[in-house]
Amino acid sequence: MNSSLVAADAHRVAIYYQSQYDNSLAANSPFGHYVTVLPLIGVITHLLLAAFHLNFDDVSVHLNDFVPEAPFFDQMWGEIAILQSTGIKVIGMLGGAAPGTYNPCLTPENFDTYYPVLAGYITRYHIDGLDLDVEQDMPLDDAIHLIKTLKADFGDDFIITLAPVASALVEGANLSGFDYIELENKVGHHISWYNAQFYSGFGTFFPDDLYLDIVGFGQGLDPSRLVATTLTSPDEGSGFIDIDSVTSSVQALAQKQHFNFGGVAGWEYFNSLPGGNNQPYLWANLMASTMAELQTNQTQLAKSKSTRSRVLPRSK
Ligand SMILES: *[C@@H]1O[C@H](CO)[C@@H](O)[C@H](O)[C@H]1NC(C)=O
Ligand SMILES: *[C@@H]1O[C@H](CO)[C@@H](O)[C@H](O)[C@H]1NC(C)=O
Repeated sequence: MNSSLVAADAHRVAIYYQSQYDNSLAANSPFGHYVTVLPLIGVITHLLLAAFHLNFDDVSVHLNDFVPEAPFFDQMWGEIAILQSTGIKVIGMLGGAAPGTYNPCLTPENFDTYYPVLAGYITRYHIDGLDLDVEQDMPLDDAIHLIKTLKADFGDDFIITLAPVASALVEGANLSGFDYIELENKVGHHISWYNAQFYSGFGTFFPDDLYLDIVGFGQGLDPSRLVATTLTSPDEGSGFIDIDSVTSSVQALAQKQHFNFGGVAGWEYFNSLPGGNNQPYLWANLMASTMAELQTNQTQLAKSKSTRSRVLPRSK
C-alpha cells in the first residue's frame, strides 16, 4: 500500500442533497421550508445533488419531481453557484431507486435521444460531475458507453463517481446487474472514486471489515478512491450507524492505511443527526473536523519521520 502523503482531497466530506424542502418545519419560502446548503461552505468538499432522472415518456430530465428549471429550484441553483464559487464541487446524482434512467433511456437504441437532454443540463447548470447510482439491471457495455461519452464531452476534469452498494465491490449482492470489478478493470481510469452505500443490508461501515475487504479485493482498490456513504438518520432506511461509529471506523482505517482514506458521504442532508432537521449541517461539521484531525496527524507523522531520519548517529 502507498504510504506516501495522500492528496488532501482524498479526505472527502460529501453530502447528498435530495430534500430541497423540509415540510416538517415552518415555511420560509413560497414552496415551503427551503433547506439551505450555505452552512456547508468551508465544511464539505462535495455536494451530491440528488436525484436526476431521465423520463422515458416525454424525453425529459427531472430533478426529483420537477424539471431542473422549475421555479421550485431557483433558490437552490443560486446557492449552488455560491458553493461552487468557494471551491465546493457539485456532482449530480443520476438514477437511484426509481427505474427508467439507465434502462430504457440509456440503452443503445435510445441513447442518442435522451443523453443530449441530460448533457444540456450539465452545461446549463455548470455541474462538476455525475454520480451514477445504477439501481436497475444495466449491461456493462451500456455503463461503459455512458462513462466514455461523458468524459469525451466534458473533459478530464469532469468528475465521474459510481454509487454501488458496498457488497457489489466485492462481487457480492448488487443492484446494477453488471460486475463492478470488470467495470473498474475496463474504465477505472475514468472513475474518480466510488461512493459505496454501506447500509440497507449491503454491508456496514462499522466495524471496518467490509471497507478493508473492498480495498483488498482482487487487484485492490486504492483507499483514496473509496468513499463510505452512511445514513445520516435512522429515518433514511435500514442500516443506520451513529456518527461516533462512523468516526471510530475513520480513525481505525486511518491508522491501518497510513492516512490514505477516501472520505465519507452522508445520505442525506436535511435531517442529518446529530443536529436533526433544525441543524442538519452538524453531521458535516463533525465529519470535517475528523478529516482535519486526520490531516493534522498525518502531517505530524510525516514531520516526526523526517526529523528522525535527520538525526545523525552519535560518534564515539
Ligand atoms: C448481481 O446480482 C444479481 C442478482 O440480483 C446476480 O444474478 C448477479 O450475478 C450479480 N452480478 C454480479 C456481477 O455479482
Ligand atoms: C489523531 O491522533 C490522536 C492522538 O494520537 C488520536 O487520539 C486521534 O484518534 C487521531 N485522529 C484521527 C482522526 O486519526
